Amino acid sequence: MSNLNITIGGVEFKNPVMTASGTFGSGMEYGEFVDLNRLGAVVTKGVANVPWPGNPTPRVTEVYGGMLNAIGLQNPGVDVFIKRDIPFLRQFDTKIIANVCGKSVEDYIEVVEKLSDTDIDMMEINISCPNVKEGAIAFGQKADSVYNITDVLKKHSRKPIIMKLSPNVTDITEMAKASEAAGADAISLINTITGMKIDIERRRFALANKTGGMSGPAIKPIAVRMVYQCARAVNIPIIGMGGIASSEDAIEFLMAGATAVAAGAMNFVNPYLTEELVDGIDRFLDSHNVPSVNDIIGCVD
Ligand SMILES: Cc1cc2nc3c(=O)[nH]c(=O)nc-3n(C[C@H](O)[C@H](O)[C@H](O)COP(=O)(O)O)c2cc1C
Repeated sequence: MSNLNITIGGVEFKNPVMTASGTFGSGMEYGEFVDLNRLGAVVTKGVANVPWPGNPTPRVTEVYGGMLNAIGLQNPGVDVFIKRDIPFLRQFDTKIIANVCGKSVEDYIEVVEKLSDTDIDMMEINISCPNVKEGAIAFGQKADSVYNITDVLKKHSRKPIIMKLSPNVTDITEMAKASEAAGADAISLINTITGMKIDIERRRFALANKTGGMSGPAIKPIAVRMVYQCARAVNIPIIGMGGIASSEDAIEFLMAGATAVAAGAMNFVNPYLTEELVDGIDRFLDSHNVPSVNDIIGCVD
């Protein structure tokens, strides 16, 4: 057994494998397939200050190499999340990272303050969802807005915060640097890439929202490239994601400079994926005589 422990923002994780927000709920359904005790962390679905209904359907569709989604951050609101989801997850020996969304700075502040009084371990701030009209991505596409929201939320949060970055920008390293300068404890990337699909028989968009966020294996090379670029631009830890389908994929992200990895859309294809990533990373380190996962983080130059 190699040493799989990693540390992000002062929090110690038993291994670098996490779930990507919005693809694992709060682990309630997946708990039937996955032993949540084996995961480094469960990153929960985005939660806002009040319940959001999400976008009209259809809001998911398959495409070559992945899927498009335009869920629109449907969620039950932070009060239900605190009462129902946190106690569920606390039964397991895993870290809890709560993903936060909002339409205005005030929305984000309200959620961050409420979550600061719970026993979650960290918060991930979604400033990168392409599927809602107000908020979310609007905060994540300009370096000065990334700086401002990070700075404000750091002042209101009593938990370490991770800023989740959008790939829908010209230079993601500018957003990474702005997050770091404003005091973020870590960054995570990538969120989905805006795409579109047309149903040619119906002569209509496949999604009611017209556009959706692309995730799955087809986006992995873009994500690995962006993780590598950000790892060279900042000194705070990076949680890498985008198309991870196997432990080999996860190891690519670690070697590109991610301290941890998250599995998203491919959980829908293989609900056992997260546990398989833990086993596969461990086997790789053992068979290559690498004592600790930290020895391969950012090992390509
Ligand atoms: C159905 C679905 C819902 C998602 N919901 C959220 C969300 O609530 N908050 C968030 O930050 N990211 C959300 N994401 C983005 C994922 O966490 C992840 O960043 C992205 O899908 C890339 O990883 P993947 O290719 O492994 O899925 C969602 C993705 C999907 C497919």
